[in-house]
Amino acid sequence: MQIITTKSELCKSLTNSTGIRIGFVPTMGALHQGHLSLVMRSKRENEVTVVSIFVNPTQFNDSRDLEKYPRTLDADINLLSQVGCDIVFAPTVDEMYPEKDTRIFNFGTLETVMEGRHRPGHFNGVAQIVSKLFDAVQPHIAYFGEKDFQQLAIIREMVKQLNYTITIAGCPIVRESSGLALSSRNMLLSAEEHKKAPIIYQILSESCIFVAQKQPHEVRNWVLNKFQNTGLDVEYFEIVDGYSLQPVSSWNESDYIVGCIAVFCGKIRLIDNIPFKR
Ligand code: PAF
Repeated sequence: MQIITTKSELCKSLTNSTGIRIGFVPTMGALHQGHLSLVMRSKRENEVTVVSIFVNPTQFNDSRDLEKYPRTLDADINLLSQVGCDIVFAPTVDEMYPEKDTRIFNFGTLETVMEGRHRPGHFNGVAQIVSKLFDAVQPHIAYFGEKDFQQLAIIREMVKQLNYTITIAGCPIVRESSGLALSSRNMLLSAEEHKKAPIIYQILSESCIFVAQKQPHEVRNWVLNKFQNTGLDVEYFEIVDGYSLQPVSSWNESDYIVGCIAVFCGKIRLIDNIPFKR
């Protein structure tokens, strides 16, 4: 496995890849089985798999969140070599941003709801770094987890807007046996918080049984009520069209409907989602 820190080295290493399929998994490190499932899928579908590890400052709207984001490069490299990754691209901030990226993307109503509403500028930063990484790696296919449901929709839109010919593969959420969605942020939870966090998925799963009897706004209220007295603070829970990400008022509005949630478990913000209709 090659470990590369500059775009020019990466370009050199990939020059002989003409005609070879390149799969790409962008990450911010602190890798877990969710990331490794993306790497393994890329390995099955491509001849070369590149994984980037870069904690992207432009997507953090809160500097304390950026500071405390877990950084575990040695352990990440070790895990990636075990699953047979070919190239790790781990650049510095100066390498990716030799000058300030002033590009402003417009994702319309895809970015004015949920994460976009609560984390202003977040998706602009995601689009900045993902486009730079796409330019550096030039993959055929890039893999993203469905846990970051809105991010996946934004990346698909960015690919359209920038005319990339890269296929975007959305991959299922990987969960602990407790149901808690795997996330790099889970390692910031205290033991006590880690015990509480599985309630998120338990409540989401339970809410699915009401689809036949209740309207979306009633299911939404039921979920919000269920979180009362759990010790977890819901930032938002929205039942949305899986394509437009706009809230739905009836189950007939779309053939793809997803419930998306952001919850504070202590100071740690966790997101998750569940399909109501697919
Ligand atoms: O999902 C993530 O880990 C990040 O948002 C990404 C896509 C690697 C961009 O920094």
